[in-house]
Parts: sequence; structure tokens; C-alpha cells
Amino acid sequence: MAAEPVNVKEYQELARNALPKMYYDFYAGGAEDQYTLTENMEAFSRITICPRILIDVSNMDLSTNVLGYNISAPIMIAPTAMHKLAHPEGEIATAKAAAACKTIMVLSFSATCTIEEVASCCNAVRFFQLYVYKRRNITALLVQRAERSGYKAIVLTVDTPRLGRREADIKNKMISPQLPNLDGLMSTEVSSDEGSNLEAFAFKTLDSSLCWKDIDWLRSITKLPILVKGILTREDAIKAVEVGVDGIIVSNHGARQLDYVPATISSLEEVVCAVGGQVPVLFDGGVRRGADIFKALALGAQAVLIGRPVIFGLAAMGEYGVKHIIEILKGELELTMALAGCSSVKDITRNHIKTEHERFLS
Ligand code: FNR
Repeated sequence: MAAEPVNVKEYQELARNALPKMYYDFYAGGAEDQYTLTENMEAFSRITICPRILIDVSNMDLSTNVLGYNISAPIMIAPTAMHKLAHPEGEIATAKAAAACKTIMVLSFSATCTIEEVASCCNAVRFFQLYVYKRRNITALLVQRAERSGYKAIVLTVDTPRLGRREADIKNKMISPQLPNLDGLMSTEVSSDEGSNLEAFAFKTLDSSLCWKDIDWLRSITKLPILVKGILTREDAIKAVEVGVDGIIVSNHGARQLDYVPATISSLEEVVCAVGGQVPVLFDGGVRRGADIFKALALGAQAVLIGRPVIFGLAAMGEYGVKHIIEILKGELELTMALAGCSSVKDITRNHIKTEHERFLS
């Protein structure tokens, strides 16, 4: 029997072998030149860790709290579309893994299991990710269903007025499966001259007129906390706090939207400084090692979300694979913390890392 994978990279290879090329490319790929896709990961490697020694690390505590929910480690599950293309149990397997690991799962608007199925399969804390459709009544209905099914927050994705150009999907003629949350509400059938229907479907459905005042509209239809996902600049972070959001997720959509935006880890500190502790700042993009999580926490993130690593685990080994991916990252984070002299996540400070620029100046 082949040895168990020991890191995210090895899971990625298993996923590559397990999936049809069209689906692997859909999950792994980014927009256009994929500059930001590479950069999301490489920018982590330009940050070094400054360990402190002779600190008691015999009792480690990775737990943290996000919006009042205790989680076992600062690692959450990012919203990613269409888990049934990776594994027949789809988002249900992912939610069960989230529950087993005592973490939070953000269910994608474009999930292949319904809001209600995922809610009833286990007791994971769940947030619901929202795209705003031109047909606002559909959006409102989905928000109500999430609220009724016990989801604890709405994660409004704000980086997608149109879909980024993912050339692999175009070449592979990637077609979206039916999205069960929309069944009976609207047809997801769209044909496209280029072969893939993803861009055309997004163009037809997403409300590209969405703007800051619509946060008020969203607040008028839900009592749930609202997080905005896709903030990359100081200016937008300030705006988001001004309009009263309950949290910010620094994200570039896993480099699938606008290419040539900076790596998210390079944008994090600017956002954290602008927010000044007024609301929690979460982070995603390119996390593949526990050391990456350590660096994001040192730069002020309260927790990170992982996207592709979850899908790689799911494609390779279903629910077990997702659990294992989270356990691997937790183990790596714990070791990084111990070796850097931090016994709890609260001990991780800005002084525990140096950016390339800081090394150059010192
Ligand atoms: C995503 N992402 C995403 N985001 C979102 O708000 N709604 C969605 O439906 C999806 N779907 C989606 C599908 C796939 C295949 C990927 C890879 C990503 C973005 C996701 O939430 C997250 O921002 C990134 O995945 C984080 O980067 P990493 O961890 O994949 O490097």
C-alpha cells in the first residue's frame, strides 16, 4: 500500500491523479497568466520567521475564536464551488470533516449539495457565502434559507462582478453541473461559443451593479453578521468598517479573478492596520503549510481559510482526506509555534516574522 501523504503538496498530486483533467484544472487553476496564483504561494516564502528561544512550549494551545465561535485551530474552510466534482459526497463530506476538526466551514453559494442537506448532516459551525444575483429575490431567498438552517454568518464575496478569465476552463470546455440550491428558482443552462459556460452563466446572473450601499440592503434582509470577502486595499478596508460589516476576509479569490493583484499575504498588513482592530480580519490565499498560517497570524489575521487544500483532500480521500489535510496543517502550525517560542496563538506577534524589505533595511 502506498504511504500516506504527509503534506498538502502530496495531496495535490493524489488529487491530480484522481480527477479528470477538466476538473483538476478547474480546481487548481487561476486567471489568465496565473501570475497571482504563483505569487500567492511564493510571497510566503519571502517572509522569514524569527524564533524566540528558551520559552516553555510544553503545553500548546492552538484554539481561537471567530465571531464568538471557538475553533480548535485558526484554520477554517473557504467557500469553494462544486465539491461533488471532486467526490460523490461533495460538501457533506467536507462539512463532516469540519465538524470532526471543530472548525468552521463556509458553504459556497455554488455548492453541489443544498444549504439544508449540509446543515442537517452534522453539527459543524457553518457560514454561508453569498453572490448577489441580478434577481435579488433569489439572493434574498437563499439568505433566508441559510438563516433558517442555522448558518451563523453571511460571507459576501465582493471580488466577482464578473468571472475572471480562467483559460484552462475555456480550453477544457468546462461546464457547470446543475446547482441544487437554484433548482426551481432559475435555469442554470447557458451555452457558450467558447465551450465553457462558466463565464457566460456568471455574466447572465451576477449583479455587476453591486456597490457599497447594497450592504445596507443585505443588512435589511438578515440578522446574521456580514463578512465581506475579497478586500485587498486600505481604502476598501476603511469603507467596509464604515458601512458596518462584522468582519473582513483578505482574499483574491485564490487568484481566480483579477490577475496581477498582489499576493494576499502582501496585502494583509495594510488591511489589518487600516481596520485597527475594529472588526476581525480573516485571510485566505496560498496557504499550504503551517508556517504560512503562522506568518498570516503574525501579520494580524485572526484565522486563515483554506480553499484548494480542502479540495485536494476531498478528491483524494473524501471526508478522511479533508480531515487529514486540516490535521496536517494543524500539526505543522503547532510545530512552527513551538520552535518559534509561541505556546498559544496569542503569543504570535509581528516581531516573529521579517519581510524581505525589513531584512534589507536591517
Ligand atoms: C474558489 N473560491 C470561491 N470563493 C467564493 O467566494 N465562492 C466560491 O464559490 C468560490 N469557488 C471557488 C472554487 C475553486 C475551485 C477555488 C480554488 C476557489 C475562492 C476561495 O474561497 C478562496 O478564496 C481561495 O480558494 C483561497 O485560496 P487557496 O487556499 O485555494 O490558495
